[in-house]
Amino acid sequence: MAKFITFEGVDGAGKSTHLNWFADTLRARGIDLLVTREPGGTPLGEKLREILLHEPMHAETEALLMFAARREHLAQVIKPALERGTWVISDRFTDASFAYQGGGRGVVVEKLEQLERWVQEDLQPDLTLLFDIPVEVARERLTKNVALTNVALDKFEQEKSDFFNKVRNAYLARAQKNPARFAIIHAEKSPGEVKASLEKIVTSV
Ligand code: TYD
Repeated sequence: MAKFITFEGVDGAGKSTHLNWFADTLRARGIDLLVTREPGGTPLGEKLREILLHEPMHAETEALLMFAARREHLAQVIKPALERGTWVISDRFTDASFAYQGGGRGVVVEKLEQLERWVQEDLQPDLTLLFDIPVEVARERLTKNVALTNVALDKFEQEKSDFFNKVRNAYLARAQKNPARFAIIHAEKSPGEVKASLEKIVTSV
């Protein structure tokens, strides 16, 4: 059966680079898969992403828009793919809403759980790779990246360390609640070491 795999972590954890390698490794095994992202993944979702990453708004508005984009993503992309046997790898999914809107912004967890049930029913990722990293290390990486690429930081990336510590802790709490679904990657290690732990995971999926 087609699998649904998600990649998560605070900004600057380095998940996107590793995601591409992970997807290529599965494709080389002959697996039909698509890579997508949240917020985004559909034309409407990408418009919402622009708004979410740049416009200031109430924390609950942010949560609702994240789940609205997710509803569309599930209907247009994720569910049809899984039904036809195509694997799906998503760069972020619902755990990010619990981490950023719940942990970071303080949206009540029960409200997020209601949205999760409404939007997903019983669909959950088969596997979630959480790139966990001390917040100071992630901040350093983000700053270096800005210097190298000249790309400005978005609304979330501009948040302070305190916000990211809350995001990180909320991610770890989600992982603790769902140990069978989560694999925690120690993302402060060297790229080679991170890849070695991913190699183990990719052969077991
Ligand atoms: P990110 O995935 O880090 O993309 P890039 O690597 O291009 O910067 O950016 C998405 C941002 O959206 C990230 O800061 C986390 C945030 N986010 C939420 O706050 N809640 C959510 O539910 C999702 C999916 C993302």
